[in-house]
Amino acid sequence: MEILHEPNPILRKKAKKIKNPLDKEIQELIPQMIETMRAAKGLGLAAPQIGKSIRLCVIEESGILYVLINPQIKSTSMEKIITEEGCLSVPGKWIPIERSDEIKVRYLNEKGEKCKIKARGLLARAFQHEIDHLNGILIIDKKQK
Ligand code: CO
Repeated sequence: MEILHEPNPILRKKAKKIKNPLDKEIQELIPQMIETMRAAKGLGLAAPQIGKSIRLCVIEESGILYVLINPQIKSTSMEKIITEEGCLSVPGKWIPIERSDEIKVRYLNEKGEKCKIKARGLLARAFQHEIDHLNGILIIDKKQK
């Protein structure tokens, strides 16, 4: 699948909640997104980046694959870390961005099961980055530190 680049307006839309994770369209999209993320050597990919304005993203970190449907950040640590971050939709740019070091996220997995995860470090950053995509926010929109 083709990855959209900034300034495509789909990247700035707030994505819609998925009503049924088991819908054929969603089930077919998930493996295509995983393949696209891996081909682009990205840490994550959000559905708006491939032109679908729905709340779905995939992340692969340390060999573990996460499929997140309707993810919600439930808590964020006071401790923030600034690290340079890139984005497949903003090629060639690395921007220092401040993010919480630890977060708790609730989501549905690809089977529609309720999941929660506590993530820290790079994984927590990836979750925050992809959830930003679902809200139409790109790294170039974040206040630079
Ligand atoms: Co991105």
